[in-house]
Amino acid sequence: MILGVDVGTGGTRAVLIDRGGRVVASFASEHAPMRSEHIGWAEQDPEDWWRAAREAIAGAMAATELTGAEIEAVGLTGQMHGCVMLDAGGKVLRPALIWCDQRTQPQCDWLTEKIGFERLIELTCNPALPNFTLTKLLWVREHQPEIFAKIAHVLCPKDYVRYRLTGEFAMDMQEASGTLLLDVANRRWSVEMAEEAGIPMEWLPRLFEGPEICARISVAGAGATGLAAGTPVAAGAGDQGAGAVGMGILAPGSVSATIGTSGVVFAATDSPIKDRLGRLHTFCHAAPGRWHVMGVTNGAGLSLRYFRDTFAPGISYEKLTALAVEVAAGSDGLMWAPYLFGERTPHLDPEARAAFIGITASHTQGHFIRAILEGVAFSLRDTFTLFHELGVPVKAIRLGGGGARGPLWRQIQADVYGHSVELLEAEEGGAFGAALLAGTGIGVWASVEAACAATVRVAETIAPKDAGVLDEAYERYRRIYPALKTIQGR
Ligand code: XUL
Repeated sequence: MILGVDVGTGGTRAVLIDRGGRVVASFASEHAPMRSEHIGWAEQDPEDWWRAAREAIAGAMAATELTGAEIEAVGLTGQMHGCVMLDAGGKVLRPALIWCDQRTQPQCDWLTEKIGFERLIELTCNPALPNFTLTKLLWVREHQPEIFAKIAHVLCPKDYVRYRLTGEFAMDMQEASGTLLLDVANRRWSVEMAEEAGIPMEWLPRLFEGPEICARISVAGAGATGLAAGTPVAAGAGDQGAGAVGMGILAPGSVSATIGTSGVVFAATDSPIKDRLGRLHTFCHAAPGRWHVMGVTNGAGLSLRYFRDTFAPGISYEKLTALAVEVAAGSDGLMWAPYLFGERTPHLDPEARAAFIGITASHTQGHFIRAILEGVAFSLRDTFTLFHELGVPVKAIRLGGGGARGPLWRQIQADVYGHSVELLEAEEGGAFGAALLAGTGIGVWASVEAACAATVRVAETIAPKDAGVLDEAYERYRRIYPALKTIQGR
């Protein structure tokens, strides 16, 4: 039996799979609400992740009545980019600044000015964005120098849980790609970046490939969780990397479109494909020797949740989408730009704002819902447009997250992407992918590719129906962002 643990934003989830890749049990434990002292700030307490991880692991084991000795390996994944700062004794120095914290634009501007936009992309394959770990570290240096002076170790969220489980400081290549301190092309820390930014190399954990066994459960970790001391722990990957493994997105041409709170279009590549303008993230893949590019829409599933909570509280998503089924493709001209949380791809603009455009008195609630589903898909299509521009091949598109669950959003995605989309038999998210990485690490499968071939199966393929109408609507959608920016006076 293999355990995968996903330290997400809302909670931590543990999944147990057998050697055939079947999910035997899972258990989730919620995190305390994230703290946001000012607009755009987002902090969480690493101790709370560790509490939730212990509960999730114990819950999954209790559901199957397994003993620790029956769990052969552990794989970790989680929300990416968060900055966990520890002192020399391994104590957490302050709450972590997490991935969606937007306060570090001044630090991004400082880095870009000091190093140069092009050189940054040369060194790390990516531009300086407020989401990335290094920029959070620089904020602490500027605003809380007394804390900065005590830092001895920097980790990402799941790697802190690994530290509590094993006592080791380790990170995988895919996660490290989102710190802005990795030489992504050569899969090693960038000494030059660390020097330019003034970050001591000793603070950075050891690097491993996703399936590599990097640590073992310590006596203390065993006492806290019920796992057996000595159980091997694989490096794992950030949630996007592990999620891609769980969906079998490994070879060039395979692409996933996952709509959760945010929306991600992820393509596997066999070399680091860089965007000169930095509009896509270029990261190491969780599978050794592979890379990936991805585009992120900050407010994807969030758009629907925001609309429901604000204008239709208490109504289920099923009821809301049932209203939208009656509305024709194109929503009779109503459009939604989903920039509720600024936008990453392709605009890299934390100040972007959302909008409904083209409302008439004939538009019903169903039109608004359909416009939201279409607008989110248009925003993901922007990433496909960049893939086309950069020559990233797209052969098969697999859907994941909430956007894959209802038939309407699936069909809208096929229509908007103008490409058939695949649904998987079981889509279990990052924890499943982390377990596949750990299983590979202990030799259950010979490679990540073999693990995916043995466990990931396509259940259904959906062909586009209304691609023409939505193609034309996408061209109009592309004109919304520049117009909104002008209205904002920027
Ligand atoms: C990826 C990203 C999010 C977080 C939270 O770049 O920011 O997917 O990992 O899930």
